[in-house]
Amino acid sequence: MEALECIKTRRSIRKFKENAVSKDTLTAIVEAASMSPSWKNTQIARYNIVENADIKKDIAENATLGFEHNCGIINGAPQLVVVSMVGMRCGYEKDGSFTTSKEDRWEMFDAGIASQTFCLAAHDMGVGSVIMGIFDEDVVAKAISLPEGEKVAALIAIGYPDQECVAPRRKTTDELMRVL
Ligand SMILES: Cc1cc2nc3c(=O)[nH]c(=O)nc-3n(C[C@H](O)[C@H](O)[C@H](O)COP(=O)(O)O)c2cc1C
Repeated sequence: MEALECIKTRRSIRKFKENAVSKDTLTAIVEAASMSPSWKNTQIARYNIVENADIKKDIAENATLGFEHNCGIINGAPQLVVVSMVGMRCGYEKDGSFTTSKEDRWEMFDAGIASQTFCLAAHDMGVGSVIMGIFDEDVVAKAISLPEGEKVAALIAIGYPDQECVAPRRKTTDELMRVL
């Protein structure tokens, strides 16, 4: 798929077929996501693929902050990706001080780029995805035994699409762009 077509046709997918995405396809998606740019090439994003039904159910039922919409998406997806971030690198100097006034917020910036690259690569391979931002990060971290020093950035439900989606309305380029 051409890059622009991939960008323009990717949609958030919230209904999935039952079959799981294979390890080979997941590896190819993560390999593509590894080419994302990152702050000083720190590459802090990690992709924790939850296939275990009990762990997925635990996250759906106990980590979605009462937002049933996300609970349903996670329960209905064959796999859930927990995007995590290795701490104390992105935005930091070697002595532990912050490099810029954005302090450690570059971590989320990089995790966002990585997540979008992951979703675009997935779309190119026929795999649907939706990024989810409403969850309790501590509950998710505990559910997946997240390694010490990592934080949860986002959840991405993935699987083969079982719905056709129309793009929600976008702002016009006049609204988005300012030329000085
Ligand atoms: C940071 C972030 C958080 C999001 N959180 C959720 C969520 O919790 N649940 C959900 O169903 N969609 C979520 N979305 C998906 C957006 O609703 C979706 O991207 C937007 O409506 C545009 O639709 P499209 O992705 O199909 O273009 C999130 C997207 C982003 C980037």
